[in-house]
Amino acid sequence: MSDTPPVVEFKDVAIDRGGTTVWSHGTFSIPAGSVVAVIGPNGSGKTTLLHLLLGLLSPTAGRVRVLGDTPHRGDRRLGYVPQHHLGSVGGALRCRDLVALGLVGNRWGLGRLHPTGREAIECALRSVDASDFAGERVSAVSGGQQQRIAIAQALVHDPELLLLDEPLANLDLRHQEEMVGLLRDLAVAGDRTILVVTHDLNSLLPILTGAVYLLDGHAHYDEIGNVVDGELLSHLYGTSVRVVRTPQGDLFTRST
Ligand SMILES: Nc1ncnc2c1ncn2[C@@H]1O[C@H](COP(=O)(O)OP(=O)(O)OP(=O)(O)O)[C@@H](O)[C@H]1O
Ligand SMILES: [Mg+2]
Repeated sequence: MSDTPPVVEFKDVAIDRGGTTVWSHGTFSIPAGSVVAVIGPNGSGKTTLLHLLLGLLSPTAGRVRVLGDTPHRGDRRLGYVPQHHLGSVGGALRCRDLVALGLVGNRWGLGRLHPTGREAIECALRSVDASDFAGERVSAVSGGQQQRIAIAQALVHDPELLLLDEPLANLDLRHQEEMVGLLRDLAVAGDRTILVVTHDLNSLLPILTGAVYLLDGHAHYDEIGNVVDGELLSHLYGTSVRVVRTPQGDLFTRST
């Protein structure tokens, strides 16, 4: 882990939506270079937490800092893949153009890209191993390939902090494994920090260094070894979860 200041700092943060407190008492720091799961049941405020980091929502109480600043919209040091992202994007677009949208923000600018911009797009496509199908229409590639394109779009500015909202959702086991491998590569390259909202802790365990967990209306952060705890996860998910350490040292959580 590097000596640089924390990427995310929360000081007694609370967030209300629609007149109700989603969660409160969030006080923690996330070190640079971390790969962090954001976990909690449906409606516990995981997407809301990402929106705070992006400056799309303001905290009701407390202070949020991201990369040393108050969060603000359009901060190019952050990359974001929203939940259900491609559902809202035209499938007729070609994959490469979708990545280009991350750079120019609208489809009218696509023809006027600078050579540096074009290289950034090809670099993002290469980093998710999508160069081979970059010319295909988004609607013509598989769900796993679409997820990779969505990540390439978020990577096109080479962000220091990458926020992914359920990137494993709707992927079969093989594509999930590929996605975890991709996230591992992205974390290793360039000391990037990654926050991943997920309902599938098991798949990500091999690469996680920590987790933000939303429990009983409060936001917490801890190292992954402390979060993978049967009692904590059972409480969090409201169902019995067991943690097993295999002879190889892997940790698994299972409903019992
Ligand atoms: N636009 C909105 N206006 C008012 N309340 C909202 C809005 N979006 C979300 N909420 C409420 O905020 C709470 C947290 O929602 P959020 O989407 O952050 O949950 P989540 O943990 O991401 O859930 P999921 O696992 O289903 O994606 C929920 O109670 C939800 O009803
Ligand atoms: Mg969500």
